[in-house]
Order: sequence, then structure tokens, then C-alpha cells
Amino acid sequence: MRLDLPRLEALWLKISIGTLASFLLIIGIMAFGFHLHPASSRYAIDPTRVNETPPFDQPGLYAIGPNEYRAVIIAKLFTFIPSDLTIPKGATVHFMITSPDVIHGLSIPGTNVNIMVIPGQVNTFTYTFKRAGEYLLLCNEYCGAGHQMMMAKWTVKEE
Ligand code: CUA
Repeated sequence: MRLDLPRLEALWLKISIGTLASFLLIIGIMAFGFHLHPASSRYAIDPTRVNETPPFDQPGLYAIGPNEYRAVIIAKLFTFIPSDLTIPKGATVHFMITSPDVIHGLSIPGTNVNIMVIPGQVNTFTYTFKRAGEYLLLCNEYCGAGHQMMMAKWTVKEE
């Protein structure tokens, strides 16, 4: 079937379809070629039993390789556990985070760390701390009266 479109209309149609196709192509290349995904939910646990469910029965920072760590974090009204940590410069941290109560968020200004923390959902994200200094960990989802006080501080020290 051949549509008899005015020349300009046909041109705009081609531009629209071309734009759409290139967006889809870019998203596809980023997702499957470069493995760029948003922070994702790996699995779910019972939010009422977070404190007894491994690994959240022992939140903390665990070395799992050369300058590579797993940070097991509980976000709850109105704190992060553990709150203050020190890691060496260049450390790659695999965040594992969940909440036993309400929805929180974990964001670290100056980085691309921005994780939704949903009760019972175990969310993960990986970040490499290339700059030494102090990093603020903030809750970025309104979670109640103490929301603005919900924060932690990590120190990345020069080796
Ligand atoms: Cu937790 Cu806001």
C-alpha cells in the first residue's frame, strides 16, 4: 500500500519514526550493551523479620575482595544502620539495603547513588568511591517526622 502524503508530511513522519527508532536503539544499547540498569530489587524478605533475616541480622561492611566491599544496610525510622563508616579511596561498594518499616531512599550527593528502599525488598547498587573525603548519605523519601534527620556519614580516606 502506498500512501499519497504531501511531501512535508511524509518528511515529518520519517523524522518522527527515525527519532523514536533511535531512542529505542540507544536504550537497547545502554541496557544490553553497557549493562546500565537502575538500582534493582533482587529479592524480597519478610519486612517484619528484617532483623533476623541474613544478611540483615548483621548489618555492616564486609570485605569481599581487594578493595571491594558489601555494605549491608538497614534503613529505618530515622536512621541508617550502620551509620558512620570509613572506607579506603577507590573502594567498590555493593550496597544491599532494605527497610523494616516504611519507604525510605538512600542518596549520596555528588554520586549517582540513589536507591529506593522499600520494606522487605532487597535493593542493590554498586558504586566505586574514587574521591577521598566525606560523603553524606541522605534519606530522600519523606518517611515521617524525623525524615530530615535521617542521614549517615561515610569517610573515604586517602590510602
Ligand atoms: Cu527515611 Cu526519609
